[in-house]
Amino acid sequence: MSEPVAIAKVGEIPLGEGRSYPVNGTMVAVFHVAEGEYRAINDFCPHMGASLATGHWEDGAVTCPWHAWRFSTDDGKWLDNPDSPLCAAPYELKIEGQDILVTVPDGGASTWGRE
Ligand code: FES
Repeated sequence: MSEPVAIAKVGEIPLGEGRSYPVNGTMVAVFHVAEGEYRAINDFCPHMGASLATGHWEDGAVTCPWHAWRFSTDDGKWLDNPDSPLCAAPYELKIEGQDILVTVPDGGASTWGRE
């Protein structure tokens, strides 16, 4: 059964940047998108597997560091081809006190297509 996992403290991820964390067997990219607001998506780019957490984030989108595909950090959509089923799966994230918690479903959600 998937449970929320504390991955970082509020303030540990600089505003406008991402970091990656293992959660329930899946690498998750967590982005600090606004003061006190965070988003979580699958860290592995569905193109060739680069870490999306290391990409440039701006205006709700991360640009993959390898070949510049862009993904929404709100819902994981591939912004360059929004009709494609390819995505970086989004995950539930919440703040409790000073902890940032992420939930990844058992078996991990697919990074290759939205469910
Ligand atoms: S690995 Fe991400 S765009 Fe190629």
